[in-house]
Formats: sequence, C-alpha cells, structure tokens
Amino acid sequence: MNYGELLKNAKENMNGNCKACKVCNGEACRGVMPGPGGKATGDGFVRSYLKLQQIKVHMDTIYEEDTIDTSCTFFGQKFAFPAFAAPIAGTPIQYGPQYDQQAYTKAVVDGCKNAGTLAFTFFDPNDSDTLKSIIEADGWGIPTIKPWPLQVMADQFKAAEQAGALAVCTDVDGAGLALVQGGKNPVGPKSVKQLSTLVQSVKIPVIIKGIMTVAGAKKAVDTGAYAIVISTHGGRVQDQTPAPIEMLEEIYAAVKGKIKIFIDGGIRSGVDVFKCLALGADAVLIGRPYPVAVYGGGMEGATFYTNMLAAQFKETLMMTATKNVSEINREKVFIDKNF
Ligand SMILES: Cc1cc2nc3c(=O)[nH]c(=O)nc-3n(C[C@H](O)[C@H](O)[C@H](O)COP(=O)(O)O)c2cc1C
Repeated sequence: MNYGELLKNAKENMNGNCKACKVCNGEACRGVMPGPGGKATGDGFVRSYLKLQQIKVHMDTIYEEDTIDTSCTFFGQKFAFPAFAAPIAGTPIQYGPQYDQQAYTKAVVDGCKNAGTLAFTFFDPNDSDTLKSIIEADGWGIPTIKPWPLQVMADQFKAAEQAGALAVCTDVDGAGLALVQGGKNPVGPKSVKQLSTLVQSVKIPVIIKGIMTVAGAKKAVDTGAYAIVISTHGGRVQDQTPAPIEMLEEIYAAVKGKIKIFIDGGIRSGVDVFKCLALGADAVLIGRPYPVAVYGGGMEGATFYTNMLAAQFKETLMMTATKNVSEINREKVFIDKNF
C-alpha cells in the first residue's frame, strides 16, 4: 500500500461528502455537514491548516549521530510518538455506510494500537457497543463524551472507567453541535463545578477537549483534569474562530506544568506534529485523515497512516539535531512574520 492508493480506495469507498483530497485542508468540503467540512463558511478548518503551514522548522545536521527516540509517556503508558487519532462520530452519515460507528472505532483503535499509538473514540450513550472495541483492546483507547445532561455524562464516565480505558475525554465544545442540540440528550455548556464532579468521580485521567482561550485553560486546570485539547472541533462547532495553533503559545505560557496540553486542527504530517511540540504542546490529535485511512485501507490503513506520520516525525528530529521529544523547543521553529 502507498498513500496514493489509500486515497484512491477511500474515495471509491466513501459517499462523496469527503473527496479524499491529496491535501486535507478544508477547501473542497467547506460547509459540507454531514460530511467532513467546517461549519458555515468553513474558515475554521481552512485557517487551522493554513496557520500551521506558516510555521517552519530550522535544520541543523552538524552533530554526532546518535539514536533518535520519538517515544513519549502519558497515562503511565509509553507511545511510539506523540500523535493520537481524534474522535470521529457518525462515520456512516459523514463518510458512507461502509463503516458503521462500531466498525470504524474498531479499525481505528486496533490500527493505532498496532502502530504504538492510541485512538480517542466517540462514546454513544445510546449504544454501549461503542465501548466494545476499547474493551477488546485491553483499554487501549479514550472514550470521548459529549456535554450531554450531567447524569448521562456521569454514567458514561463510570462506564469508561469500568471498561478499563486508559483515560476518558469530554469534548465540552460539543455544546455547539447543531445536529445534537435538540436530540434526546441535548448538549450544552458545563460549569467548572460540574466538570470537577465528573473528574473526581473516576480514578482514570480526564481530558477536556475544546479549549481555545487562556481563561478556558485556567478553568480546566481548576477542574483537576489531566489534560486539555486546544481544539475547535475541526471548525465544526463555531464559524470564524482563530486556529488552535494561534492560541497555543499563550495558553502554554499560562498553564504549563499545571496540566498537559494536547492540540488538534489541521495537523497533517510528522513535521506538523513537531511544530506543535515546539510551541508547547505535549501531544497532538489528528482527525479527518483517520476516516480517510480507514475507508481506504481498514485497520491496516490506520496503521499505515500512523507509521507514515511517525517516520516523518523521526526524520524531522534527525534534521533538526533533536534526539528526543524533550529536546523540541521554540528555538527549533521559525514563525512567518504574517502569522
Ligand atoms: C466528521 C467528524 C466528526 C467528529 N466527531 C467528533 C466527536 O464526536 N467528538 C469530538 O470530540 N470531536 C469530533 N470531531 C472533531 C475531531 O475530533 C477533531 O477535533 C478535529 O477533526 C481535528 O481537526 P482535523 O480534522 O483538522 O485534524 C469530529 C470531526 C469530524 C470531521
């Protein structure tokens, strides 16, 4: 398999909402929802991609050659490199019937595990089967829970813990999801007190996804969570936001050392992973390329794509005189003056 073949297969296997573009930058799918597009004008998704491209890496290859270690440790587990698959809900509607939610989740969980990384997954309160893949993978996955009514969330937090999941996540920005706002379990904002209650209700680490301001990051610290994900949900919950990467440095300055910082939005290569770490992230999540990898190559497609990113990441460390992830810092990157 090569990446070109994977994209070609994906395009054939999907329902046409996603074009499996060579560069997944949000242009061809602006506003396509259901589908992979950003909300309304689609600018949120497009900007996330473009802003990352304004960051460049500084090369330095004068150093004594040594082993390069790309590994990282979270939740007491070692991973091949700091990039995880982001949660993706509703694959049959968004991408086509070839993968129902459970089949997609199974492919991405196992595919990432095989490559030494981890997948975040959508946890449907109406379908406990969406936890099954994580149980079958001995807890190797992070169920992600929308900001439903508090009791529904509390039950799901417990179920995630009982399933043996390494950690549990809640995408608080899911409050802006038009598709689920008026459903059986309406989504909505949650207070620091409500989130603290959830964090305290389980022994596993809790990740709060969808933070985009210093104030939001400080509130997340107050909940006792393990990590935040700086994220706009891929531009799907609010039009006209800054790109997550534009918020990273100031959020890092405000909360570094108090909470782990993950980020997502437009990250498409191992080089992009490196840039995010240079600006203060501990790890990244990658969204849309994973359904493309799965529709194009099943579980093997997810493994292939992850290994490809890992190789690009390792090469970037080699080309920038960086022996391991802890040596990645702000001096390793150049930021375009128009950033
Ligand atoms: C079709 C689709 C479904 C998504 N479903 C969820 C979800 O259920 N929960 C969630 O936290 N994020 C969801 N996201 C957002 C991703 O987890 C992630 O934040 C975003 O896609 C990252 O940007 P990227 O796709 O540019 O990498 C979804 C994104 C897409 C495109």
